Amino acid sequence: MINITVNGKPHSLDVSPEMPVLWVLRDVLELTGTKYSCGLGVCGTCSILVEGKALRSCVTPISILNNKEIVSIEGISEINKSVQKAWEKLNVPQCGFCQPGQVISAVALLNEKPSPSDEDIDKGMSGNICRCGTYVRIRKAIHLAASMRNESENEGGL
Ligand code: FES
Ligand code: FES
Repeated sequence: MINITVNGKPHSLDVSPEMPVLWVLRDVLELTGTKYSCGLGVCGTCSILVEGKALRSCVTPISILNNKEIVSIEGISEINKSVQKAWEKLNVPQCGFCQPGQVISAVALLNEKPSPSDEDIDKGMSGNICRCGTYVRIRKAIHLAASMRNESENEGGL
């Protein structure tokens, strides 16, 4: 059995230890917000959050996450509202397919660098591919999320 906590909810799963986390989320737990694209760990579309860092779920066997806590796109607003708000305010998505992974990577970047420069954003987000080319809006939204979060912290929290 594999024990994992997903978005605050514990699960004991009778699955193959080799099963990629992406398919555990989508096919076993029916959390379909995390998307499949390259399947090779290259595009970042399937990203999830583990211990505050982005992880590619398409190439990660579930056994590696036994007894760990993960956050998928469905749970992101519980831990970071400012990224979601900034994405909505600036209408970041075009087709939307890559955006769950972009949001997860943005949260991971802001965990590491609460006030990132353009260079930090370009570097931190460079592993997330968007075929629609929403990179300029993503960069603006990360700056906006950082400023909303910093303002909110100055006022006593989100
Ligand atoms: S689908 Fe996982 S990195 Fe592309
Ligand atoms: S919004 Fe279409 S691939 Fe990124």
